[in-house]
Order: sequence, then structure tokens, then C-alpha cells
Amino acid sequence: MSLSHSESMMVSSGELGWECPSNIALVKYWGKYPGQIPANPSLSLTLSSCVSRTQIAYRESDQGSMEFLFEGEPKPEFAHKIQGYLDSLHADLPWLTRVHLQIESHNTFPHSSGIASSASAMGALALGLASMDRAFRGVESGDGLSDSAFWAQASDLARRGSGSACRSIYGGYTVWGAHPAVPGSDDRRAVPLDMEAVHPSFHNLQDAVLLVDRGSKSVSSSAGHGLMNGHPYAQARFAQGAERVAQLWTLLQDGGEASWRAFMDLVESEALTLHAMMLASTPSYLLMKPSTLALLEEIRRFRNQSGVPVFFTLDAGANVHLLFPESASAQAMELIDKQLTPYLHEGSYLCDRLGSGPTPWTRTPHTS
Ligand code: PMV
Repeated sequence: MSLSHSESMMVSSGELGWECPSNIALVKYWGKYPGQIPANPSLSLTLSSCVSRTQIAYRESDQGSMEFLFEGEPKPEFAHKIQGYLDSLHADLPWLTRVHLQIESHNTFPHSSGIASSASAMGALALGLASMDRAFRGVESGDGLSDSAFWAQASDLARRGSGSACRSIYGGYTVWGAHPAVPGSDDRRAVPLDMEAVHPSFHNLQDAVLLVDRGSKSVSSSAGHGLMNGHPYAQARFAQGAERVAQLWTLLQDGGEASWRAFMDLVESEALTLHAMMLASTPSYLLMKPSTLALLEEIRRFRNQSGVPVFFTLDAGANVHLLFPESASAQAMELIDKQLTPYLHEGSYLCDRLGSGPTPWTRTPHTS
């Protein structure tokens, strides 16, 4: 009797880890088709300091099983989600039925802070699974890291855990969703935009996340995506999202003053359009708070009066991402400290910036 490919694969034991950043979309993904296929392409920037660090210890076992710790503690609702995710991958990663996984994950940023922890967490886990798949298939890990197929597989796996997570697999600016203006773009995984083609003035974009609300969202992203089915404006929105990916990509390559102005307007309009879809859903819902609106107005007023290139985006929540080039950092910090702090939850905000993507991560005794 000959063994099938999956049965013949050697499953060993070992430990590995990945650090994966979160990302924030500039052109939003909102609405999807079965199989986690986006209804329109999206374009995001990968962050630098807001990361998940995930360690996986694995060993052979009679059946697939898993233990999960988040910040050192069991977290049944996350464990349940991860178990469902792993079960959904058996056809692609057949060895999952023959390993025991001990997964430990930590975030460098607080929960419900306006940073998508599902993107960084699912990204880190998918990178771990892609690394294990390489190891079990006998591919040298050193080869894996310089191999575009490795990253593409990780992005595809991440997408199936949380759509936007597929964009966190690459640093810089990334596009997820097939689009004729972006060679190689695909509905099943993200592709990085060529940073050599991106104008240098966009290379050091900063993101200060202004914390308005620390509570959980009243409507989850999955429910929100679902409400785009049968939404009266869905088709127009999906066409607009695709158009805007091409527009933003052109502006990113240009970088002149007029392009910067158009870039800021487009990014802000994307944020407001995302929330407009929520306002016009059935049932309608509202994730912005009065302080969110006050911040948006203050940011625009400051930009119009001073000419300093500060602008905003929003995720599916009340917190505001204040974006600006590094050259405007001093003025942006002054804006936050002098005018925006009263609207913030306990005056708090997180500072991050465009980052270079995930890296292998090894736990040391001091970094638990
Ligand atoms: O990846 P999900 O299912 O959590 O959806 C993310 C949706 C937005 O964050 C609102 C937009 C985006 O493109 O990231």
C-alpha cells in the first residue's frame, strides 16, 4: 500500500514564533463573498510597533489538538475561534490532524484600542502555520523566508482567519483584491506595493491612534460585512473602492503637493464612507461617538488653518487614526496635546508608523 502525500509527510516536534504587525486600511474592505473573498480591493499601511507575538510549540499526536494562552492566560472565546480556524484548514494543511499545538500570543497594544488585533494575531498565527508546513514538507526554513511563495501562502492562510490579516504579512503599503492597476493582485492574498515606486514623502507616514472609547464595538466587523449583503448602496460602494485603489496608488507614486492634498481628501472620504455604509445599513448603526466627530472637525480645521498635512482615517470603531508625514510630527504632537486631548479617553493615544512587516520572533526569558 502506498502512502498518500499527507500521510507520508514527516511531522516532528519543535517551537517557532512570529511577530506580526497590525495594519490600517486607507481604502476599506467592507463587504465580502463566501470564502472570505473581498467585494472590493483594499489598500492599507502596515504598522510598526503595534504587533502580536505568537509562539507555537508543536509535537506529534494521534489527533489534532490545541491549547491557547493569550497574555499568559487561557482565553476560551479566542481559543474557540482559533480551533474553528484550524479545523477549516485541514484540506490545505493535512498534518493539522496529527499535531498538538501549544499556542501563546501577546500583543504590544491594549485590547479595544482601535488597532485591529485580529489582523496582527491571525497574521502571526498564519506565519507560524506556513513555517510548520515548510518544515513538515522538508523545505529549509532559510529558503522559506526569501521565497515569495512562503509569504503568499501565509497571506492566503491569514485571510481565512480574518480578511484584513492577509495585508499584515507584508510591510509598507499593500493591496488585497484583484485589480488591473496592481500587477499580481489577487482576491486570495495581499501583495506589497513596490516601495521603490512609492514617493519618498510617503515612506515615513505616522499614525497616532487617538483613543476615544475603550469599550468593545456594539456591532462586530463580521456582522457589518454581512449587512453589506442587500445594502442599497453596496454595488456603488464596491465600484468606488476599486476605483479608489487605483487613484491612491497613483497618488502614492506622485507625492507632489497637489497629490498630497488629493491623498488626504481621499483617505478621509474612505473613512467617512465606511461609516456611511453603517449608517445606511438595515438595521442602521453608529460606531462613532460625539468625541469622534469633534476630533474629525478639529483635525480638518487645523489642517485648513495651518496647511500642516495632518489627516484622519477610522477603523470600524470610534477611535481616530491621525496620520501625518514624519516632517509634521512636531506640529501633530502639539495639535494632540493642545487641542485634541480633552476628547480622548483619559487623554490617551498610541504612536505608530509605517513599518517593514513581520519578523521571526524567539521568546527570551525576559519577553515572556
Ligand atoms: O478583516 P475584518 O473582517 O476584521 O474586516 C476589516 C474591516 C475594516 O477594518 C473596517 C476595513 C479594512 O479594510 O481593514
